[in-house]
Amino acid sequence: MAYLQTDVTKVTTRVLQNMKQQGEKIAMLTAYDYSMARLLDRTKIDVVLVGDSAANVMDGYQTTLPITLDEMIFYGASVVRAIKRALVVVDMPFGTYQGNSKLALASAIRIMKETGADAVKLEGGQEVLESIERILTAGIPVMGHLGLTPQSINKFGTYAVRATDEEEAERLVRDAHILQEAGCFAVVLEKIPALLAERVTAELSIPTIGIGAGGKVDGQVLVLQDMLGITQQFTPRYLRLYGSFGEEISRAVCQYVSDVKSLDFPNEKEQY
Ligand code: KIV
Repeated sequence: MAYLQTDVTKVTTRVLQNMKQQGEKIAMLTAYDYSMARLLDRTKIDVVLVGDSAANVMDGYQTTLPITLDEMIFYGASVVRAIKRALVVVDMPFGTYQGNSKLALASAIRIMKETGADAVKLEGGQEVLESIERILTAGIPVMGHLGLTPQSINKFGTYAVRATDEEEAERLVRDAHILQEAGCFAVVLEKIPALLAERVTAELSIPTIGIGAGGKVDGQVLVLQDMLGITQQFTPRYLRLYGSFGEEISRAVCQYVSDVKSLDFPNEKEQY
């Protein structure tokens, strides 16, 4: 609820809860910068995630582990400046909440104060429960994240689908309940079998947002640059391409280079 009234009705965690109850799917995408976020804001996107996938997409790291809190705050603030309608969630980066709930609260408070975001997201279940509970005491909404949690890639050793065996599947279901009971407002389910995601979605009263988790979840999330065809050589089965903007950008830049070299640009109308 905005103190100063605007002409846009903001998506809140309560709105997402109602969407689940009414069977309306939640559409979520990532964004890391103002220009892209401005474009998202022209749509009916429900949730914008400033994901720590920024480590890969924006910074060129192999994993999400190196990105810092300062960087996430920088990206988060840029996105918040552009978004009027969607709920903006900022990822808590690796090393800012695990195993230390006081640090977790301090990190989450920095994110909320310095970005103006609406919520934070963090990865894990039982092992981060204390951190989640402490963050919630400050009135900061928390989105959970289970399944292929990229900050644990060194433990997994692979980006393959998670929870295919019964033990891990049962642990994931237990963790999903733990997140809900703790007070998370939603949970991302990444790269798990569709049947398992369907079961979790049916058992939870909070929304589930899937990425590589099939269609029987309450919403979907993709990395913006992946679905726009900007990310190079990344073609997981779950990814649907909604454009070939990587090709288009290269084509435009090649044309520009050629026009500059051939003295075609600028022409007489393009000068003062
Ligand atoms: O960082 C990210 O982009 C994410 C999504 C893939 C869910 O966590």
